Amino acid sequence: MLKCVLGVESSCDDTGLALYDGEKGLIGHVLHSQTELHAEYGGVVPELASRDHIRTILPLLKELMHKTGHTLGDIDAIAYTAGPGLVGALLVGASFARTLAYALGIPALGVHHMESHLLAPLLEEPAPVFPFIALLVSGGHTLIVEVSRIGHYQVLGESLDDAAGEAFDKTAKLLGFGYPGGPAIAKCAESGRPGRYHFPRPMCDRPGLDLSFSGLKTHTRQTWQQSDQTEQAKADIAFAFQEAVVDTLYKKCERVLKQTNLQRLVVAGGVSANLSLRQTFAKFTDKLKVEVYYPRFEFCADNGAMVAYCGYRHLALGKSGSLSIDVRARWPLDEAIKG
Ligand code: KG4
Ligand code: ZN
Repeated sequence: MLKCVLGVESSCDDTGLALYDGEKGLIGHVLHSQTELHAEYGGVVPELASRDHIRTILPLLKELMHKTGHTLGDIDAIAYTAGPGLVGALLVGASFARTLAYALGIPALGVHHMESHLLAPLLEEPAPVFPFIALLVSGGHTLIVEVSRIGHYQVLGESLDDAAGEAFDKTAKLLGFGYPGGPAIAKCAESGRPGRYHFPRPMCDRPGLDLSFSGLKTHTRQTWQQSDQTEQAKADIAFAFQEAVVDTLYKKCERVLKQTNLQRLVVAGGVSANLSLRQTFAKFTDKLKVEVYYPRFEFCADNGAMVAYCGYRHLALGKSGSLSIDVRARWPLDEAIKG
């Protein structure tokens, strides 16, 4: 009987493992972040990421077992991130998961990274009930999705260029901050003055739900070059940039909620940790009576818990994985059910 699922995340620069139990909920999770490793390069170096996953994945498994008081014999199935992401990094988690599952004689299932993000708020109480709209804002993707039930996702809008998190990261680099840029911009924006600069709200003046953030980066560069380049100017620009991203996401969500007549909104992925976003999105509840759901802060970014949960939900529905180790650098979310 399916009870306890081990989740394995290694799609980018975080190695995450977790145990999810169908009756008890989340049993425990462990995470190793590679932020320091990549810091001096100003972004993730794929080869270094793969090697670090290899180094840390087994010690992390031991740590998880020790922390939760569980043994390998307690695991009924393994779920791992099969894509989208960095191929080398994905292959580490996939090989580890498949080999361990084979040795233990249990099934292993590859899951979609963005689906795991999408389902992360379902680990919280109260959990959103289906159907709902999901805004997924991570470093690699920005998607607006209509979710009717597990595995049934219709992408209604997406970024045509940079993802929201990527825009934060690139803008941070322009202003001289390290990687990842989202938290740095958010911190700097705290001392920014509202109204000092006004940045455009890309693609809000035309119909549809697609987004575009690459223009904001160019706008930031020009504004910074024309400013007096003081710390105050930097904070004012960070504030205006963040306000533009958040307001654009808000406007598109307002549009999709009206269009679909749905009253529940799930926001997930790294950028959902942004406090300015959460403050602005509170207007949905206050003005439109829309319920807004987030993952807990530690599960906004990549982690093993969301993978264990996503895998559990699919395995519980009878989905099974093959024995081959398949990973996909690109993988549209609408096709996740077929993976
Ligand atoms: O979901 P995630 O951990 O990884 C991907 O699947 O890409 O998202 C990472 C992204 C990075 O671009 C990072 O700068 C951004 O999330 N991020 C933030 C904040 N915390 C992380 N962006 C804005 N504000 C934050 N507080
Ligand atoms: Zn992610």
